[in-house]
Amino acid sequence: MSENFSISPGGEKFPLPKPEDYKEEFESLKKRVEEERSKNREIVVVMGVGFVGAVMAAIVADTVDSKGQPSKFVIGMQRPSVRSYWKIPLLNRGVSPVKAEDPEVEPMIKRCVTEKKTLIATYTYDVLQLADIVVVDVQCDYLKEELGNVSNGQTDMVALEASLHVIAENIPAEALVLIETTVAPGTTEQVAYPIMKKIFRNRGIESDPLLAHSYERVMPGRNYVASIRDFWRVCSGINEKARDRVVKFLNEVLNTEKYPLTVMDRPIESETAKIMENSYRATILAFLDEWSLFAERNGVDLIKVIKAIKVRPTHSNIIFPGPGIGGYCLPKDGGLGVWAYKHILGFDDNIFKITPLAININDTRGLHVGQLTRDALRNMGQPIASADILVLGAAYREDVGDTRYSGSEVVIRKLTEMGAEIRVHDPYVEHWWEFEQQDTFPAPGQSKARFFRNQEKLKDICIEPNLNKALNHAEAVIFAVPHKAYLHLDPDEVVRTIGQPAAIIDCFGILTDEKIRRYFQLGCEVKGLGRGHIQRIKEEVRKL
Ligand SMILES: NC(=O)c1ccc[n+]([C@@H]2O[C@H](COP(=O)([O-])OP(=O)(O)OC[C@H]3O[C@@H](n4cnc5c(N)ncnc54)[C@H](O)[C@@H]3O)[C@@H](O)[C@H]2O)c1
Repeated sequence: MSENFSISPGGEKFPLPKPEDYKEEFESLKKRVEEERSKNREIVVVMGVGFVGAVMAAIVADTVDSKGQPSKFVIGMQRPSVRSYWKIPLLNRGVSPVKAEDPEVEPMIKRCVTEKKTLIATYTYDVLQLADIVVVDVQCDYLKEELGNVSNGQTDMVALEASLHVIAENIPAEALVLIETTVAPGTTEQVAYPIMKKIFRNRGIESDPLLAHSYERVMPGRNYVASIRDFWRVCSGINEKARDRVVKFLNEVLNTEKYPLTVMDRPIESETAKIMENSYRATILAFLDEWSLFAERNGVDLIKVIKAIKVRPTHSNIIFPGPGIGGYCLPKDGGLGVWAYKHILGFDDNIFKITPLAININDTRGLHVGQLTRDALRNMGQPIASADILVLGAAYREDVGDTRYSGSEVVIRKLTEMGAEIRVHDPYVEHWWEFEQQDTFPAPGQSKARFFRNQEKLKDICIEPNLNKALNHAEAVIFAVPHKAYLHLDPDEVVRTIGQPAAIIDCFGILTDEKIRRYFQLGCEVKGLGRGHIQRIKEEVRKL
C-alpha cells in the first residue's frame, strides 16, 4: 500500500490530503457551519467514523425537531491515515463506509448526505473548533499477550488519549464531549478529565470540560440502526451541567420515549455497567463450555438440555456458545475491567476470578473443534494432516459479515497447525482480513497467528462464494456458524455435492437427529460440540 494513498475495500484509491489542503478544507467547513447555524442547527462532530461512529453520525444527522426540521448538522471526523482516510470521501458521496446487513444503513447515510444535507465528513481536527457537541467513537483496544490468558494483557488507549488531547486543544469551552467508546472503568474521570483539564488550563479556560459517557450497545446485523437508535441507553456526566447536556442530547437523537434513558450519578458507574453487562454475557457463555464437554463424554445432547432449561423464564437467556465467542466486545471488555482495577484505580490484589476465566475459556473453546475433526477423520481412516477441510462460516455469529475475533479463526488456526488444508465459505464475508493481512491486522504483531505454528499459508485464504464448489471433494465439513444458508442443507445433497462421505462437525447444534442419522447412513462420520448423543445414533445406524 502506497503511503500517499488510502485504498477503500472496493479498491478505489484516494490520495491523502496534503499539508496545503487543510487550510482550504477548514475555510469551507467554517462557511458551511455558519450557514447551518443560521438554520438553528446544532453542530455535532463525531470522531471516528468506524463501525459505530458512521452509523451514530447518520442517526444524529437524521434527527428532526418538533416541526419536522433537521435540528443537527453532523461532521464525521476521521484521521487521514492510510488505513482509514478512504472513509471520508466515501461518506461525502453518501456511501456508507461500513458494510452492514441492515438495509436501513445505506439509505440513511445517503439521505442525510445528499438530500437532507445534514451530514459531511472531514479529516481536519480544526473542525472541533466549530463543535457544540463532540461524540467520541474511536476504538479502545485490549491487547492480549497469550492465548487463553486475558489477565496479562494491556489496554491500548493510544487512539482515545490522542483524541482527547486534540479535542481539548480545539473545542470551545462549552462544548459537550460525549465518550461512547467502550472504556476501562474510571477512564472518563481519571484519564479523560485530567488530560482535558490541563489543556483547558493552558488555554486559559477556567471551567471544567463538559465530559459525559454513554456506551453503545450496537449489534451488527439486520437491526444495526435500531440497536443504536431504538434501544435503551445508560449515560452519565462528570458534573450536573454535563449530565443535563448529555440527557438533553440523547433525548433529542434517540428514541428515548420508547426506550428511556438510565442516568447514572457518575461516569464510573455507566462505564462499569458496560463492562459488567458484557462480562455477564461472556460468563454465561463460558459456563456452558464445561457442560458441553460433560455432554460429549456422557451421551448427553446439550442442545436438548438447554431447550429443557430455557422454558424456565428465569433461565431463558442460557445460550449455546458455538466454537468461541467473538465480536469486538465480549472478548475484550472484561479485560478492560480487570486492567482498570489495577492500572487506573490502583489496587494490587486480585479480586477478579470469574471474569478473566470466562474470557480465557471463550478464547480457547475453538481448539476443541480441532480435536473433534481429528477424531472424526481418524474414524474414517484418514489423518488430519493434509486433509481438505471446509469451514462453513467465518463470521462471529449468524447472518452477519463481521469476522472480528470469530471462533472460526481459532478453529482454522488450530486445524492448520495440525496440517490440514483449509477452504472457507461464508455468504456474508468477501475478505477475511484476520488471515489475508495477518502481518498487520488487527494491528502489527497482534494477529492470533503468533499463537500457532505453520500459519504463513493462511494469508492466501480465499472465501469461496459458491457453496457447491466449496463442498466439492471436501474430506471434512465444519458447520462453524449457524448462518441461515446452512440450517436446511439436506445430507443427501451435501454428500452428493462433496462426491464422497465426509467427516461432518457440528459446532452450533445445527443438525437435527434425523440429519445426523442420515449422514451416518450415507457413510459419514459425525461429531458435534456438546452433542454426546451422536454416538448413540451412530450405534443405532450401525446395528441396522
Ligand atoms: N462494533 C461493535 O459492534 C461495538 C459494539 C458496542 C460498542 N462498541 C465500541 O464502540 C467503539 C468504537 O468501535 P468501532 O467498532 O466503531 O471501531 P472502529 O475501529 O470501526 O472505528 C474507530 C474509528 O476511529 C478512528 N480513529 C481512531 N483514532 C482517531 C482519532 N484520533 N481521530 C479521529 N478518528 C480516529 C479510526 O480510524 C476508526 O475509523 C469501541 O470502543 C467499541 O468497543 C463497538
